[in-house]
Amino acid sequence: MPTENRIGVIGTGYVGLVSAACFAHLGLTVHGVDRDEVKIGLLNKGIMPIYEQDLAPLVAAGKQQGRLTFSTDLPRMVQEVDTIFIAVGTPAQEKTGAADLSHLRSVALGLAPLLQAHRYLVIKSTVPVGTSAQFSAWLSERNPDAQFTMVSNPEFLREGMAVSDFLQPDRVLLGVETPEARAHMENVYAPLSEKGTRVLFTNIVSAELIKYAANGFLATKIAFVNEMASLCDTLGANIEHLVAGIGTDKRIGPGYLQPGPGFGGSCFPKDTLALQDMGRAAGMPLSIIEGAIVANARHKQRMVDNITALLGHDLRGKRLAIWGLAFKAGTDDTRESAAVFIVKALLKAGATLQVIDPVVTTKKWDNLALGESVQDTARLISADSCAASIENADAIVVLTEWDLFKTVDWAALKKGYKDSAFMPVIDFRNLYDPLTMGSLGIRYISLGRPSSVETLA
Ligand code: UGA
Repeated sequence: MPTENRIGVIGTGYVGLVSAACFAHLGLTVHGVDRDEVKIGLLNKGIMPIYEQDLAPLVAAGKQQGRLTFSTDLPRMVQEVDTIFIAVGTPAQEKTGAADLSHLRSVALGLAPLLQAHRYLVIKSTVPVGTSAQFSAWLSERNPDAQFTMVSNPEFLREGMAVSDFLQPDRVLLGVETPEARAHMENVYAPLSEKGTRVLFTNIVSAELIKYAANGFLATKIAFVNEMASLCDTLGANIEHLVAGIGTDKRIGPGYLQPGPGFGGSCFPKDTLALQDMGRAAGMPLSIIEGAIVANARHKQRMVDNITALLGHDLRGKRLAIWGLAFKAGTDDTRESAAVFIVKALLKAGATLQVIDPVVTTKKWDNLALGESVQDTARLISADSCAASIENADAIVVLTEWDLFKTVDWAALKKGYKDSAFMPVIDFRNLYDPLTMGSLGIRYISLGRPSSVETLA
């Protein structure tokens, strides 16, 4: 058990809250602070501000055992702990895509006067190379006597899998500049390293870059497989065979080769843009990352084109069942969701959409930022079951890989078809077996796989 086992976490968003709850689960005493009083109020009432599998019981247990507290009281937290994790948002700036560091800056300005005694300041937010140095400069400008050591500790959590990713990570990455900082962080992470987790130490700049390189590489892998899926459609090859054929090569690996409607979420789109910006600013444009960004944008548009190629460009009077809005299963997050991009385009083309998502319910539809794509919101209808979503529909479009959709009883559902001869299922997550769908007489179109009736161009 570490000797310094009291930590603070600034920012109780997705990364901060998961880290706080998991550290408490590992036996550390954790004080999470956030300036958002509403969020802290919810957490103190036992209500989760976000949906994340397995997180609620961990938060409840930590609070009950007295190891996890939440408040808006930054000075009190700084007094109580010797290590402070910083996990505030770094959204992409609209014009350049560069990471917006304004939240980090206000954390630095708030912390500076409180650092009379030495603290370790660990940046967990995804930040461009040089941000730890910048953070340190902000602190010293505000308070030349501030006592602190910077550490970089990027996070590799996936939404929907965050708790297990934190507790059983492939590695923990720590950027440090002194032997003391290394020893201190070894101690903080002892509960994980004692269970066999690999802890990698680098300098701070490398740690900052590794986070972007990891997300950039994974996003590139997905952009690559999505292009291959479209090529399979054009050439009559099968993407599943292609993925098995290349994924079994240990140098390539099978992960992140599942074709879909395009990568989305709060990380890959933002981080590829930030990496692109970093490369350009350094006079070293990153043509592969830039290519992945372009390929993903093209792919999402290709998904829309595939639908209109089948149903017509003017979708007025057409009714589509939309299965899924979240950017992937296991989360209620719709940020940069390819599903939302496709929904906007279909609304713009005049379609009426009957939408079902088990987690993104109408309460969260404000977050879809539909803007001008839908003047007439009556064309966006919430359905409470798959059967309800297909009433009078002309097609089903599968956009998120929820279990609810994977386990559909097609033979039963088909009885509710408006026109059993023509009601295509357009599946951008490849959830079903084309042969089974074909044998049920369902016109089935998926990505990069020869279907019973036709394939997409
Ligand atoms: C991603 C990384 O996977 C995490 O390691 C990282 O910590 C996180 O970003 C972050 O920087 O905070 P996340 O955005 O939660 O995690 O989602 P992923 O599960 O990686 O999926 C991202 C997107 O790629 C989704 O739209 C998903 O549908 C798509 N995807 C993923 C595919 O289309 N195919 C795949 O094979 C995998």
